[in-house]
Amino acid sequence: MNNRWNEIIYKLWSPMYDRIFNTGKFLEARQKLFHHPPFHPHQRILFVGVGTGADLELLDHTQFQITAIDYSGDMLQKAKDKFKDTTIEFIQMDAQQMSFTDNSFDAVIGSLILSVVPDPDRCMKEMIRVLKPQGTMIIFDKFSPSKMSLIKRMVRPFVKIMGTDIGVNFENLYEQNHKAIILKENEPLLFNGMYRKIILTKTGR
Ligand SMILES: C[S@@+](CC[C@H](N)C(=O)[O-])C[C@H]1O[C@@H](n2cnc3c(N)ncnc32)[C@H](O)[C@@H]1O
Repeated sequence: MNNRWNEIIYKLWSPMYDRIFNTGKFLEARQKLFHHPPFHPHQRILFVGVGTGADLELLDHTQFQITAIDYSGDMLQKAKDKFKDTTIEFIQMDAQQMSFTDNSFDAVIGSLILSVVPDPDRCMKEMIRVLKPQGTMIIFDKFSPSKMSLIKRMVRPFVKIMGTDIGVNFENLYEQNHKAIILKENEPLLFNGMYRKIILTKTGR
């Protein structure tokens, strides 16, 4: 995957995305993710790769200062249309190279983004960088065990063409960043634990 391809593929996904990833089991998983969100009124929250804004629909956005970024103008436009009369700030931006200063946000949300960006470790490092010390990171994504089955390895390149990678291993990402973050929760959310809810906090004061 690269950004140019993601731009093309998510332009194609944008008209039908919500009908697949914002209904049924996916919607139930998102509802669980935001059932008791671990952040507080007036906090600054960043949604990374916000897409059509599916997660935003599950929060009382009037309570928070929300910024939402996405690389795809088409996906972002869907979110903007849904939330046009709000104070949510939508910005077209690469999640691997964000323009925010260090320690800007109280919480960073990454739903289905680490499995999509060309370089998940770079994206993770950026999410950590812009998070305040002691801030919370919420990740909802599909992750692969370190040893992938033969079938998965065979299918992986075809799924990548559709705009997502089924081979990202969370433990590797965590290992590469464990000095900066502490794992608080890692729970199965969907499809026998393939999709997970992960909560992390940033170290430091
Ligand atoms: C699978 S969708 C997830 C959207 C949303 N977070 C959700 O949970 O429905 C992946 C999103 O990541 C965006 N994306 C892909 N590469 C990106 C990048 N380098 N920086 C920011 N967003 C990116 C795509 O445009 C798409 O909207």
